[in-house]
Amino acid sequence: MLKKLPVGVDGFKKIITEDFYYVDKTMFIEELLQNWGEVNLFTRPRRFGKTLIMDMLKNFFEIGSDRNLFDGLKISQKKSYAKCIWDSIR
Ligand SMILES: Nc1ncnc2c1ncn2[C@@H]1O[C@H](COP(=O)(O)OP(=O)(O)OP(=O)(O)O)[C@@H](O)[C@H]1O
Ligand SMILES: [Mg+2]
Repeated sequence: MLKKLPVGVDGFKKIITEDFYYVDKTMFIEELLQNWGEVNLFTRPRRFGKTLIMDMLKNFFEIGSDRNLFDGLKISQKKSYAKCIWDSIR
Protein backbone atom coordinates (compact mmCIF):
# COMPACT_ATOMS: atom_id res chain seq x y z
CA MET A 1 0.00 0.00 0.00
CA LEU A 2 1.28 3.47 -0.89
CA LYS A 3 1.75 5.83 1.99
CA LYS A 4 -0.06 9.16 2.00
CA LEU A 5 1.83 12.40 1.33
CA PRO A 6 1.70 14.63 4.41
CA VAL A 7 0.74 17.83 2.56
CA GLY A 8 -0.02 20.43 5.20
CA VAL A 9 0.48 17.98 8.06
CA ASP A 10 3.04 19.27 10.55
CA GLY A 11 2.29 17.01 13.52
CA PHE A 12 5.02 14.38 13.94
CA LYS A 13 2.79 12.04 15.90
CA LYS A 14 0.06 12.18 13.29
CA ILE A 15 2.52 11.54 10.45
CA ILE A 16 3.91 8.44 12.17
CA THR A 17 0.72 6.96 13.54
CA GLU A 18 -1.37 7.60 10.44
CA ASP A 19 1.30 6.20 8.12
CA PHE A 20 2.25 9.24 6.06
CA TYR A 21 5.57 9.43 4.23
CA TYR A 22 8.20 10.70 6.63
CA VAL A 23 11.68 11.68 5.48
CA ASP A 24 13.74 10.50 8.44
CA LYS A 25 15.39 13.54 10.02
CA THR A 26 15.90 12.00 13.43
CA MET A 27 19.69 12.03 13.15
CA PHE A 28 19.34 15.76 13.67
CA ILE A 29 18.91 14.80 17.34
CA GLU A 30 22.46 13.45 17.40
CA GLU A 31 23.75 16.55 15.66
CA LEU A 32 22.06 18.77 18.23
CA LEU A 33 23.49 16.82 21.15
CA GLN A 34 27.01 16.83 19.71
CA ASN A 35 27.03 20.49 18.73
CA TRP A 36 25.49 21.63 21.95
CA GLY A 37 24.58 25.30 22.25
CA GLU A 38 22.62 27.31 24.76
CA VAL A 39 20.65 28.71 21.88
CA ASN A 40 20.25 27.05 18.49
CA LEU A 41 19.03 28.89 15.42
CA PHE A 42 17.36 26.96 12.61
CA THR A 43 17.11 28.76 9.32
CA ARG A 44 15.39 27.12 6.38
CA PRO A 45 13.28 28.48 3.52
CA ARG A 46 9.50 28.35 3.60
CA ARG A 47 7.92 24.90 3.75
CA PHE A 48 11.22 23.14 4.44
CA GLY A 49 9.96 21.30 7.48
CA LYS A 50 10.97 23.61 10.35
CA THR A 51 7.73 23.17 12.24
CA LEU A 52 7.74 19.41 11.74
CA ILE A 53 11.33 19.00 12.92
CA MET A 54 10.61 21.03 16.06
CA ASP A 55 7.60 18.84 16.75
CA MET A 56 9.74 15.72 16.21
CA LEU A 57 12.24 17.06 18.78
CA LYS A 58 9.42 17.82 21.20
CA ASN A 59 8.17 14.25 20.91
CA PHE A 60 11.69 12.93 21.48
CA PHE A 61 12.59 14.99 24.54
CA GLU A 62 9.26 15.60 26.24
CA ILE A 63 8.58 13.64 29.39
CA GLY A 64 5.71 11.25 28.91
CA SER A 65 5.63 11.24 25.11
CA ASP A 66 5.41 7.95 23.27
CA ARG A 67 8.85 6.42 22.59
CA ASN A 68 7.34 3.92 20.18
CA LEU A 69 6.86 6.73 17.65
CA PHE A 70 10.60 6.43 16.97
CA ASP A 71 10.56 2.70 16.25
CA GLY A 72 12.19 2.07 12.89
CA LEU A 73 13.65 5.57 12.65
CA LYS A 74 17.41 6.14 12.51
CA ILE A 75 17.82 7.48 16.03
CA SER A 76 16.45 4.23 17.45
CA GLN A 77 19.50 2.41 16.07
CA LYS A 78 21.63 4.71 18.21
CA LYS A 79 20.81 2.92 21.42
CA SER A 80 23.25 5.02 23.41
CA TYR A 81 21.34 8.23 22.72
CA ALA A 82 17.79 7.06 22.76
CA LYS A 83 18.16 4.88 25.83
CA CYS A 84 20.32 7.15 27.93
CA ILE A 85 18.19 10.22 27.25
CA TRP A 86 14.91 8.47 27.79
CA ASP A 87 16.11 6.82 30.99
CA SER A 88 17.35 10.12 32.35
CA ILE A 89 14.19 12.13 31.68
CA ARG A 90 11.64 9.48 32.48
N1 LIG B 1 10.59 15.04 7.10
C1 LIG B 1 9.47 15.18 6.39
N2 LIG B 1 8.91 14.12 5.76
C2 LIG B 1 7.77 14.26 5.05
N3 LIG B 1 7.09 15.41 4.90
C3 LIG B 1 7.61 16.50 5.49
C4 LIG B 1 8.82 16.45 6.25
N4 LIG B 1 9.09 17.70 6.74
C5 LIG B 1 8.08 18.48 6.29
N5 LIG B 1 7.19 17.78 5.55
C6 LIG B 1 5.96 18.30 4.95
O1 LIG B 1 6.27 19.53 4.30
C7 LIG B 1 5.29 20.52 4.58
C8 LIG B 1 5.95 21.72 5.25
O2 LIG B 1 6.46 21.35 6.52
P1 LIG B 1 6.51 22.39 7.73
O3 LIG B 1 5.17 23.01 7.93
O4 LIG B 1 7.12 21.70 8.89
O5 LIG B 1 7.53 23.46 7.10
P2 LIG B 1 7.92 24.90 7.64
O6 LIG B 1 9.37 25.07 7.28
O7 LIG B 1 7.57 25.04 9.09
O8 LIG B 1 7.01 25.82 6.73
P3 LIG B 1 6.67 27.37 6.97
O9 LIG B 1 7.87 28.12 6.52
O10 LIG B 1 5.49 27.58 6.06
O11 LIG B 1 6.34 27.54 8.44
C9 LIG B 1 4.22 19.83 5.45
O12 LIG B 1 3.18 19.38 4.63
C10 LIG B 1 4.95 18.65 6.05
O13 LIG B 1 4.09 17.58 6.34
MG1 LIG C 1 6.36 26.43 10.09
